[in-house]
Amino acid sequence: MDRPLDKLRARVFPDQWSLLFGQIAFYSFVVIVLSGLVLMVYYDPSVEHVVYDGPYAPLRGVHMSRALDSTLQLSFEVRGGLLARQVHHWATLLMVASITLHLLRLFFTGGFRRPRRLAWFVVFGLLVTMLGAALTGTSLPDDLASGMSLAVLDGVLKATPFVGTAVSELLFGGQFPGDVIAWFYPLHVYVLPAVLVVLFVAGAVLALKHRPAQYAGPGRTENNVVGHRGSVAAVKSVGLFCFVAAVALLLAATATINPIWLYGPADPANASAGVGPAWYLAFLDGSLRLAPGWEFVLWGRTVTVAVLLPVAACTLFLALVAVYPFIEERFTRDHRNHHLLERPRFNPIRTGIGVAGMTFYGVLWAAASADTIAIQFHLSVNALLHAFQVLLILGPPAGFAIARRICLGLQDRDLQIATTGLETGQMMRTPNGGYVEKHRPLDAYRRYQLVGSHPQERKP
Ligand code: HEM
Repeated sequence: MDRPLDKLRARVFPDQWSLLFGQIAFYSFVVIVLSGLVLMVYYDPSVEHVVYDGPYAPLRGVHMSRALDSTLQLSFEVRGGLLARQVHHWATLLMVASITLHLLRLFFTGGFRRPRRLAWFVVFGLLVTMLGAALTGTSLPDDLASGMSLAVLDGVLKATPFVGTAVSELLFGGQFPGDVIAWFYPLHVYVLPAVLVVLFVAGAVLALKHRPAQYAGPGRTENNVVGHRGSVAAVKSVGLFCFVAAVALLLAATATINPIWLYGPADPANASAGVGPAWYLAFLDGSLRLAPGWEFVLWGRTVTVAVLLPVAACTLFLALVAVYPFIEERFTRDHRNHHLLERPRFNPIRTGIGVAGMTFYGVLWAAASADTIAIQFHLSVNALLHAFQVLLILGPPAGFAIARRICLGLQDRDLQIATTGLETGQMMRTPNGGYVEKHRPLDAYRRYQLVGSHPQERKP
């Protein structure tokens, strides 16, 4: 009974749905690797020019790279090839979405506090590495959409004073578009997946060591975990893998994603209207659209604020997210270990900060679709961009104040329900002629949910 595996089997793990996002991200990664291995067999990472003569008639006779030709072959000629491409792409979206939700869940419930600060870094590292893997992956087919995002990347690099041109030449192997695929390919299929494996393993080791923090409830205390034994949790986890794989397959079989045959080959001289980056990279594009077009000359070099400001703002934003656990610990001077999660309303300041950050991100995200929104709603795109600029400055403080106020209001309401009980709608007449409503007391679990372990405190 003392062997480590037996100990693990007998150990109790909390069992709450919001703790599943990390596992969903990992299982999506497994699906990505399996489908990626199929793609690897047929995909040719070469920019050598060929003339398309495959079964897709509208592109016949068009000059394109071997990379696009092989991706078209995968889509139309390889049995199950289109399914593999679509599974790979849909699983990518599932993975990025679930790791983002995992990070948000950790933030809003205080799941990043000691002793789980390292786990926060691991999850943040996973998100950033996934964004890199997705960016390099979508560049591989060498279609018009991937060419456009590389052109934006090249523009941003070249606008970086002093080092920009050299870095761009290094990345693209000479002048844009160069042979970027030659080194994006190994980065995409070997390096970044290897980094993801290391981070997932680190996350799993930390989760086994400390176990995920649990929500408060009867019997659920700092030292007592309520949930399933390791053996049961493992079986449930296998079921979750089957479910994730089934969802990715169902999406891939029924919903078209990234139809590169409609876009055609990448061409630096061509850009389609209405084509934007994938949703998870849209905030970067939005930041470029919202920056004012200022520039000045410094030591004989033109410094483009329109590019440097968004790069600096997004870098600062991500850096603040990465070090948030340290900032909070420093300001609250709370160095204790926490094994119980907080409901967002119990920590109005943190929740306010989170909503402010989400508002900042959300405005940048929406701005990436400014042209599409303007066309759909018959608005002036310039007026819309100005509105987004104002919203970017005023939105986060307003989001903070509103979220904090709502949290305080919810705490008051919860405290009242916890102390007076639930309204029953039954009125009673008092001996002196007045009316009072009868209240039903709460059960212990609901009481815990409403006021946690500190029923008398209202937190600022
Ligand atoms: C061992 C791991 C992986 C292998 C072997 C692999 C392989 C490939 C190959 C060969 C392609 C080009 C073919 C095509 O575009 O259809 C591709 C595209 C792509 N990969 Fe991966 N990949 C791996 C991991 C990842 C990861 C971790 C992500 C996401 C974070 C990812 C996201 C993508 C995306 C979004 C595309 C574009 C798919 C499309 O054409 O619609 N891949 N991958």
